[in-house]
Amino acid sequence: MRVLVTGGAGFIGSHFVKRLVAGGDDVVVLDKLTYAGNPENLEGAPVDLVVGDIADPDAVAAAGRGCDAVVNFAAETHVDRSILGPRDVVETNVTGVLTLLEWARETGGRLVHVSTDEVYGDLEAGGASRESDPLRPSSPYSASKAAGDLQVFAYVRTYGVDALLTRGSNTYGPNQYPEKLLPLFLTNALDGEPLPMYGDGRQVRDWLFVEDHCAGIERALRAGRAGEAYNLGGDDERENREITERVLEATGASPDLVRRVTDRAGHDRRYSLDTTKARVELDWAPMTSFDEGFARTAAWYRDNRSWWEAIKSSEGYRAYYDTQYAERLKA
Ligand code: NAD
Ligand code: TYD
Repeated sequence: MRVLVTGGAGFIGSHFVKRLVAGGDDVVVLDKLTYAGNPENLEGAPVDLVVGDIADPDAVAAAGRGCDAVVNFAAETHVDRSILGPRDVVETNVTGVLTLLEWARETGGRLVHVSTDEVYGDLEAGGASRESDPLRPSSPYSASKAAGDLQVFAYVRTYGVDALLTRGSNTYGPNQYPEKLLPLFLTNALDGEPLPMYGDGRQVRDWLFVEDHCAGIERALRAGRAGEAYNLGGDDERENREITERVLEATGASPDLVRRVTDRAGHDRRYSLDTTKARVELDWAPMTSFDEGFARTAAWYRDNRSWWEAIKSSEGYRAYYDTQYAERLKA
């Protein structure tokens, strides 16, 4: 199969590209190379990398020529950045998805859209979101992802396009940009920098190793039904303060580095996914325990300092970091 992977130079997308290439598929990547896109993530994968925007129909048509399917990872993905610039997420996360749906409509190709558990909003202890649950997004990021999901369903119903989506939980592993909790805390700990824990640190996330997430998306590509959503969760819920302790243990950093800082506005307390549908219909299940996935992730950041130092020393990263944390860490 020839597959266009959009956002394939980012974290999850680059793992997915390597997976398809290893399985013998022919892959083209379309990526705008925003701050989060990094061609180094694709080292060792023989693919054409086309630099372009998923919201640009000509770029999508050119990169998608001859492809049987598009798998869309391209997005503005960070909640904190979406709070700082709520308009910035809409063009890619909504208009971009619409542009890919138009491609599917015109060519008859399949679209697998990669979405998130955050579209369900947060849950009380004990509950788990099912695919049929109402969407109650809390942040500008999750609201834009929910809008993308709804466009997918509308295009299937109205135009009969072959499109479906997956909703993954908090994904971790090598090559994740050091703005998300785990890579930020690991790299800060390795550098003896503060670990800014929002609020009481008792927020709960479900953790999914990147290779398991990619396996689920591949199953959706090959066996998923048009018009359906599939939850892909790790069935492994942990509080942020536990993640923080794991980081200290793995790096040998001092507990004094942990700083409780002002909470994120609108902060979702807990996500949890019911993954029965993906297990039954896609024959998928997460295979990597958190202990194993975390150990592999921590080792990768320890051994690949040059990858993240290049990012963290860039002007763009420093500016973002100061905006996000300077005041909080002074308080
Ligand atoms: P990432 O931020 O690491 O990478 C995003 C990639 O998209 C980058 O390579 C970037 O250059 C590219 N991109 C951004 N805007 C683009 C545009 N307009 N056109 C083309 N390319 C563009 O993201 P990630 O963590 O790998 O997430 C990938 C997808 O998975 C996203 O859709 C995200 O919503 C979803 N997701 C992520 C997680 C997670 O925990 N990271 C969990 C569930 C779902
Ligand atoms: P994040 O990795 O941004 O993922 P998401 O918000 O999409 O779940 O954050 C994961 C959790 O970690 C979330 O509850 C917010 C918290 N967090 C901190 O406490 N400090 C930080 O510096 C960051 C980036 C996140």
